[in-house]
Amino acid sequence: MPNKNEIEKRIIELRDQIRIHDYNYYVLAESKINDFEYDSLYSELLKLEKGNPQFITSDSPTQRVGSDLTKDFKQFKHNSPMLSLSNSYSSSDLLDFDKRVKNILGVEEDIEYVTELKIDGVSISIHYENGLLTKAATRGDGFVGEEVTTNIKTIKSIPLSINKLKDTLPKSFEVRGEVFMEIEEFKNFNESRAKDGFKLFANPRNSTAGTLKLQDPKAVAVRPLDIFVYYLLSEKELFQSHFENLEYLKELGFKTNNNSKICSNINEVLDFCEFWNTKRNELPYDIDGIVVKVNNLKFQEELGNIAKSPRWAIAYKFAAQRTTTKLKQITWQVGRTGAITPVAELEPVLLAGSTISRATLHNRDEIERKDIRVNDIVVLEKGGDVIPKIVEVDVSKRERNSVKSVFPSKCPVCAQPLFFPEDEVAIYCTNIECAAQIKGQIEHFASRGAMDIEGLGKSLIDQFVDLKILSSYTDIYQLKDRRDDLLEIERLGEKSVDNLLDSIEKSKEQPFEKVLFGLGIRYVGAGAAKKLVKHFKSIDAIINATKEEIENVNEIGPSIAASLEQFFCNSQNIENIRSLKTAGLRFVANNEYSTAETLSGQTFVLTGTLKNFTREEAKVEIEKRGGKVSSSVSSKTDYVLAGESSGSKLKKAESLGIKIISESEFDLLIG
Ligand code: IVH
Repeated sequence: MPNKNEIEKRIIELRDQIRIHDYNYYVLAESKINDFEYDSLYSELLKLEKGNPQFITSDSPTQRVGSDLTKDFKQFKHNSPMLSLSNSYSSSDLLDFDKRVKNILGVEEDIEYVTELKIDGVSISIHYENGLLTKAATRGDGFVGEEVTTNIKTIKSIPLSINKLKDTLPKSFEVRGEVFMEIEEFKNFNESRAKDGFKLFANPRNSTAGTLKLQDPKAVAVRPLDIFVYYLLSEKELFQSHFENLEYLKELGFKTNNNSKICSNINEVLDFCEFWNTKRNELPYDIDGIVVKVNNLKFQEELGNIAKSPRWAIAYKFAAQRTTTKLKQITWQVGRTGAITPVAELEPVLLAGSTISRATLHNRDEIERKDIRVNDIVVLEKGGDVIPKIVEVDVSKRERNSVKSVFPSKCPVCAQPLFFPEDEVAIYCTNIECAAQIKGQIEHFASRGAMDIEGLGKSLIDQFVDLKILSSYTDIYQLKDRRDDLLEIERLGEKSVDNLLDSIEKSKEQPFEKVLFGLGIRYVGAGAAKKLVKHFKSIDAIINATKEEIENVNEIGPSIAASLEQFFCNSQNIENIRSLKTAGLRFVANNEYSTAETLSGQTFVLTGTLKNFTREEAKVEIEKRGGKVSSSVSSKTDYVLAGESSGSKLKKAESLGIKIISESEFDLLIG
């Protein structure tokens, strides 16, 4: 047994090593070790700290993810207000700004500026005392923000402590910067939300803001947040210029943006703006402009502030990116609720770095208001959002024989008359036997966020509905008695039929909240389903609840309550629920909410690649339930969770007779 001194020494050593690896990976984007080596250092540290909690410090890498849930974020009064910037939109605005600056300073010679990318994220203030991160807060109204320290600590590119340049480091200082998500990371994250049935975020900025408001730091930790810092505030005067501050921040280990530049005069500023206006699409993150700052800090002080923004800086905002193209056709899509959405089929065109060939037209109101017609030349715009929109029609290019768009009077799929409610802009197909609706409902029911029936995807569902093998999601559980019919279908071999029937069987284990979500009740998304199940615990309690009782559930509004009432009034829906109950689906909450620590005392070792989790996510799930994750297999291991291409750990587990579980068994274990 090593003595306490040796243990502490090793803990410090591990912490320093992990810190350096985090810095290399998250700040410099160049990793020097592989995941496995990193994981073993991390697990060794975790294990030593667990056995010797007296050595845990607040800046240990293991302390990034706290376990306490935040009820309400505390208010945080900023020491000095977090100002916003005045905006400019053209070269002449920038030339005016330059003149104003020179005027106030009473100088004629060129002013030196620092130009920076204006990152489209959420601004954050982070405080350090004696080199340790103590508090972090959002901007709020500029004077009072919300304290989000535990969430900010999960961002790996933010140092929890500063271990460099100790002799120059002010006793206390504040750093400000922009938290953001890279576009690619955001897209992946949104895609996985879609599969799980959660509402999508419109853009990386909204997604970042939503994440910082989460009450569970563990949930924040698995989201891809990052930061660029751009401002240092300290009592101690360190440097003469803003650019030196930025370089100092970089040396301290913060992530600063490498594209910041010193411009010796306003013309160079204009060039910088022009350059990034065309190159912005090549960046891996969104920017919405350029920030221009007077470099000399004495000048900044002299210039001071007006109302809510400094006189020494200005934002140059890019115009939203636009292009024109031809609208070839309007198609009408029937969703699972029967709502019909118009979609613009466009001549493919490049906009903001991607090719656009379709755009939603939202509803009939939108088409009427903008008088959008087939064969029109339309103006497409991509603002901060992922989805481009049609802003207007170039009427000057309209063909002479053009006619106003007419709305379909019959469903494009089932040809039944459509319903145009007076108080809504939507158009509905009310035929409950409409194939498009049935297909949509079954697709939703089988999706990953609901029953998660592997193999039952869109094309198979379309085929089954067309062949009348399925006419409602309840039929899915009768398929096992129709194995022979299934085998007759082209392209469905024996193996795929059996796999499909297996995954249908397995889906019966899905928890009640997923089943409730799968029913496709209007407005009852994955989040609302979870809240309803947590509150009412069973389908019978939900069916029997009054509208008021439902509305009293936290964050459940009147439209959800009304929609539930309407759904359960329909006897066919009640019949469907009865049929699913008979098939063995869960309509009662499992005990997840009463006994959260279901894996308490169990040690897991993870190996290989998992399909639905990264290792870090699997680890979070285990630890949430009181279990532990260790890096190496020993007699103390309870489970080895084996993903694809598991190697030596699996062999060792087999030789020690340790229980090996697959990802799907793991799914069951964590409910
Ligand atoms: S400087 C007083 N620099 O833009 C100076 N801001 O409208 C305040 N932002 O709230 C900010 N990138 O959220 C600065 N390189 C950058 C920035 C930046 C993005 C955001 C920030 C601020 C807003 C100002």
